[in-house]
Amino acid sequence: MDIVQPTDGQIARAADLIRNGALVAFPTETVYGLGGDATNDRAVAAIFQAKGRPQFNPLIAHVPDAAAADAHVVWNDTAERLAQHFWPGPLTLVLPRRAGGAVSLLCSAGLDTQAVRSPAHPVAQALLRAVGRPVAAPSANRSGLVSPTRAEHVVQSLGDGVTLVLDGGPCPVGVESTVVDLTVAQPTLLRPGGATREAIEAVIGPLALGPAIGTPGALHAPGQLESHYAPALPVRLGAVAVAGDEALLAFGRDIPVGAALVLNLSVAGDLAEAAANLFAMLRALDRPGLGGIAVMPIPDHGLGLAINDRLRRAAAPRS
Ligand code: TXA
Ligand code: MG
Repeated sequence: MDIVQPTDGQIARAADLIRNGALVAFPTETVYGLGGDATNDRAVAAIFQAKGRPQFNPLIAHVPDAAAADAHVVWNDTAERLAQHFWPGPLTLVLPRRAGGAVSLLCSAGLDTQAVRSPAHPVAQALLRAVGRPVAAPSANRSGLVSPTRAEHVVQSLGDGVTLVLDGGPCPVGVESTVVDLTVAQPTLLRPGGATREAIEAVIGPLALGPAIGTPGALHAPGQLESHYAPALPVRLGAVAVAGDEALLAFGRDIPVGAALVLNLSVAGDLAEAAANLFAMLRALDRPGLGGIAVMPIPDHGLGLAINDRLRRAAAPRS
């Protein structure tokens, strides 16, 4: 595996690799993606294999803009309004597959829908334009484990499962894109993420909530298993006091004393800062020998919805 700075030359090399069926990890504004040619069955199959991802969990096709998405999915007015407000950016739209579209059926995992997203990160944009085809890209981690927000996380997670990693530094948003299903009568929030529910509702009105949002035990997007984003240590939520053998993931100024190790998502209580820190801090606190990770309460609005969703999954019973 090669980890390189995303110079023009390396982006061109990465695009050639993808066009030839190889997998490349690249930065987006949310998390690092493990990218492969979405029109190539073998490349898409290799993504599932590298991640150890269940075949029933569909992949997002990444495109540079709405015009490129329109070639692969049946676009509609709601998609157009959302794309105008949020693309490029941390919003994924689930739409009907376009008949005769070039995206591999494996990407849809047997559904007649396809998720599309136009990422804002300049390296992702440059790469997508150079590939000239949709790029299938899940988060570049082993399935079920903590998502990568730095190039070194990708290396720790996937090792030789990936040919090249474009190192774009830390991902500025830090939680995955919001997934909205536009194939149903009322647009439905399948996964809270970097585009807030409030901001989306300001554009298209009320969202229905996917079955699992706020109800542990059910599924979000297909294949979004309850236990996910899981560090090796057990995770305890809503902590207002802490044991001496616990690591503390803190939020705000007023924090309990006595933890073995403390990292603070945001001393100022800023949810955007907390989201950007979330996965790197979960990884850093996940040290052998400790009893667990205690997490302080995080407000459940704005980006807090995505943060709490990931934390609930990190704390869910492991299967
Ligand atoms: O921010 C992101 O979205 C990152 C970056 C790399 O773009 N990607 C990402 O991909 O998080 P992944 O595969 O880790 O998560 C995609 C989510 C999963 O929950 C999947 O079930 C859902 O999107 N999804 C994909 N296609 C879908 C479809 N056709 N219908 C419903 N849900 C879908
Ligand atoms: Mg993921």
